[in-house]
Amino acid sequence: MIDPARSPALYVPIGMALAGVAGLIVLQALLLHKAPMIFGPFRFNPAALAAAHTFTLGFATSVMIGAFYQITPVMMLGRPVAGRLALLQGVVYLCGAWSLVWGFYSSSGPWITAGGTAALLSLILFAVLVGCSMRSATQWTVAGRFMAVGLSFLLATAIWGLVLAFNLRYGFIPNSMDYSPLGAHVLVGFGGWFMLTVFGVSYQLFPMFALSQRQDARTAHLTLGLLGAGLGSAFIALLLHLHPGVTAGSLVLAAAGIGVYARDAAAILRQRRRRELDLSMRYALTALGFLGLALPLLVLSPMRHGLAVPGAWLFLVGFVATMILGMLYKIVPFLFWHYLLKTRRSKTQRLPNLDQMFSLRAARAGYWCWTAGVVLTGLLLLGGALELWDARGLVRVSLPLNLAASLLFAGTILQVLQAKPLD
Ligand code: HEM
Repeated sequence: MIDPARSPALYVPIGMALAGVAGLIVLQALLLHKAPMIFGPFRFNPAALAAAHTFTLGFATSVMIGAFYQITPVMMLGRPVAGRLALLQGVVYLCGAWSLVWGFYSSSGPWITAGGTAALLSLILFAVLVGCSMRSATQWTVAGRFMAVGLSFLLATAIWGLVLAFNLRYGFIPNSMDYSPLGAHVLVGFGGWFMLTVFGVSYQLFPMFALSQRQDARTAHLTLGLLGAGLGSAFIALLLHLHPGVTAGSLVLAAAGIGVYARDAAAILRQRRRRELDLSMRYALTALGFLGLALPLLVLSPMRHGLAVPGAWLFLVGFVATMILGMLYKIVPFLFWHYLLKTRRSKTQRLPNLDQMFSLRAARAGYWCWTAGVVLTGLLLLGGALELWDARGLVRVSLPLNLAASLLFAGTILQVLQAKPLD
């Protein structure tokens, strides 16, 4: 995962991770501030749109951009990405993403279209930079193939998102209550960018973190083929308004891909040599559990729209964020430890162990706080969707748990970045 000769400058992955963690804190504050409105009907809801993109672009995609710059050249033995270009890309991306969020929040058409355009252009540059590194690669791993396909889905999400942004302003898509165009955007964003990429990276990292022998490239490729083909054809079917049977059939293909992945992930874990799960793996398994709860709700949401709210909560905050936090607990100390190794005064100067770089107790408290917050808010939102109670105000009780956990997490990262050689 780390090879100094192939890694970008440290400020690239760490800078994007810090920007992402700041985005996560802003999101929690926004959710608390606008709780009743955000969790209401989601269509054309300014607060919900702002929150969705604070999460997807401000937090998750920011961290993933930094991780792609770090992982791609090292894992695939390719040329490292030029730090300055990556910095330029990251700055334009963050300006674009946050302008888009502000545009949604304030219902301002010019901010939405300008922010969306800047975000899309920066994502195209991101794809070019990562693509160049991939072209020079001498080792095409399974995870690398997933990441290349995930990247294409990110571009599809952003390009179609920008069309929807211009449509919000100029209204050229005829039926404004048609859910297919929005469904296409969300499907490739959630499934193609987040889920497919996470699956691919986990094929590489889970066996490493859990010391597992199990690595079957054939079934991993089957997962990729089924998911890629299923999500891609469902996207086209929704865009072209093909018969609903075509969308349903495509989603069955994608579901088969998820099934193959679930079997592989279970086998990797069964055959692990490290019996005790470390914090990263605990986060990762919790994330997969939340994915298992989110998917049925999202699949049923076209029949009952209210289910989209707990479904999106469990998918984004439960699955995507939990997985990213777990990976960051591993990656950030590792990166900074290598930086200390490179910059220490002499070869005899001792360095702290990875575990000594942050308070494990605070990190564990953060895990429980985060998981409790996701579960409690998820249950409240589900009850709301089933009309058992009005969840919009009630979630004010559970949301502070996730805010507290995000702050604990930010504190851990800052603690890591202050680590020094021991003597
Ligand atoms: C340049 C990037 C992007 C732009 C310009 C953009 C634009 C938009 C627009 C205009 C809508 C509202 C569509 C409508 O209701 O007709 C929307 C909704 C949505 N987008 Fe994006 N988007 C972008 C990236 C993403 C990404 C990467 C994701 C996630 C993976 C995402 C997830 C969502 C979600 C979940 C909604 C529904 C939110 C709600 O209805 O409350 N977007 N996006």
